[in-house]
Amino acid sequence: MKIKKCVFPVAGLGTRFLPVTKELAKEMLPLVNRPIISYGVEEALASGCEEIIMVTGRAKRSIENYFDRSFELEEMLKARGKTALYEEMLKIANMAEILFVRQRQPLGLGHAVLCAEPICNNEFFAVALPDDVFINDDPVIAQLIRVHEKMGGSVIALEVVEPENISRYGIVKSQFEVEPGVHKIIDMIEKPHKEEAPSNLAIMGRYVLSPRIFELLHNQTAGTGGEIQLTDALKTLCNLEPVWGVVYNGRRFDCGTQKGWLSANVQLALEDPELRNVILDVVNAAQAQTE
Ligand code: G1P
Repeated sequence: MKIKKCVFPVAGLGTRFLPVTKELAKEMLPLVNRPIISYGVEEALASGCEEIIMVTGRAKRSIENYFDRSFELEEMLKARGKTALYEEMLKIANMAEILFVRQRQPLGLGHAVLCAEPICNNEFFAVALPDDVFINDDPVIAQLIRVHEKMGGSVIALEVVEPENISRYGIVKSQFEVEPGVHKIIDMIEKPHKEEAPSNLAIMGRYVLSPRIFELLHNQTAGTGGEIQLTDALKTLCNLEPVWGVVYNGRRFDCGTQKGWLSANVQLALEDPELRNVILDVVNAAQAQTE
């Protein structure tokens, strides 16, 4: 059956971005001209998903509003003849079928995914962590869906990481490679020290998951950081059903930290013909000052 649903856990408190996230949802921080969350939603839609499920918390109203109609704004743009902008606003509001479900307590990523259970029925579904922004013509979720359609089972996006970054991610153990870049996963561990890591293959924020994960998440006890970890439930799942890992093609921007977010903005602005010179002018002026 086709993967139709994509779950976005967006209830996190964004503590790495305080103070700005005291009031603003971190998913709404701009990446050049659009909020971070928009990139993930666009990727899910381009991958064939038709239903977006946001697992939100109380400070996340702005995400709901962003994807909704804004009559006052639309009327104003129409009245002032700003047709292109008006149409752009309508396009955002009509972009996707979006359902919202609340994660009432911040109990971890596994718990956030579990909150989507009533909407996901008994189907395989995608999960996208919006902090990881992927830019590629062939969307990363679509790459995972293709492996799911060919091999069955669940699929996780992987990236080869440097040893010093291992402790920031879930790390998998591969039994073998069925084809270049596609691994059969037999074990995984959330944020290990580099000495105890089974490999340098790190889980990135895109998944295609079996509905069986819900049953496992119900029984999952707290793990790393005292949170219910998706990685821990997936570790059990790979003993029961096939779980594949795919070293994705494309570029990833880590927008989950201030440094990563800033670097993503600069890199993408450099690729925009109009913004490129803004960045270069600032850098050149700063360089001239230090010389
Ligand atoms: C989560 C997952 C982790 C994964 C990472 C990818 O961690 O728990 O396994 O490697 O996303 O970005 P978080 O970054 O939410 O702490």
